[in-house]
Amino acid sequence: MAPTPKDLTPKNRLAVALDLPTEHEALKLVDRLGQTCQWYKVGIELYYAAGNSIVQQLRDRGFNVFLDLKLHDIPNTVAGAVRSATQAGASLLTIHATGGAAMMSAAAEAASAPGSPRLLAVTVLTSMDANELAGIGITASPAEQVLRLAKLAQASGINGMVCSPEEVDLLRKATGPGTLLVIPGIRPVGTSIEDQRRIATPARAITQGASMLVVGRPITRAQDPAAAARAILQEIEHAQTAAR
Ligand code: C5P
Repeated sequence: MAPTPKDLTPKNRLAVALDLPTEHEALKLVDRLGQTCQWYKVGIELYYAAGNSIVQQLRDRGFNVFLDLKLHDIPNTVAGAVRSATQAGASLLTIHATGGAAMMSAAAEAASAPGSPRLLAVTVLTSMDANELAGIGITASPAEQVLRLAKLAQASGINGMVCSPEEVDLLRKATGPGTLLVIPGIRPVGTSIEDQRRIATPARAITQGASMLVVGRPITRAQDPAAAARAILQEIEHAQTAAR
């Protein structure tokens, strides 16, 4: 059975988003954090600049890599990309649920090979509201669409999702305890919201059922990134103890 959130240690519930333009800057930050964190998220900005080298460098330092490439293509191509990400050494990989059931099933099949990353479906981008959805022909509300795509992902063999703090409670109830729910938009009390809209504190997201939190700027732009990360880890620990 898949681990439920309470089986995870605080360090395994925090991924630091390395939204930086070069490998050099990313590794400088990673080295400042030392052994404070265990997971790093590499998104398309850094991956297109640094490729598999950044994944390898993080692996060589003993860290886990969440490769946030949001794959969206025909089933055969996405399955091939899953195999490439496996060779690169990623532990988590995102795909767009809007690619459909055949694409997600092909990805899940490719990810059933030993050593493959666990797949996470991206449902509705948090930058899209009801108007944006209507513009691409979707008349369902964002919440309805998130739920529909999450269920399609599960039926296609993908038992993990990225979602906003507003959806975590809904998705936890709808998908069960073994689903890996990964939540960005996390802002500890007293930190700047920046461009995020739907936010939650680490404690609230954990209490509502998040498996793992993605935190970027509150750590990467802090004066002391390691201290900021330690404070978040402590908040996760308190929230998970309170939830037991
Ligand atoms: O700096 P911040 O904590 O806002 O970074 C959040 C990270 O999570 C970024 O890498 C962003 O691309 C990612 N993300 C997000 N919202 C989503 C999916 C991913 O903020 N729906």
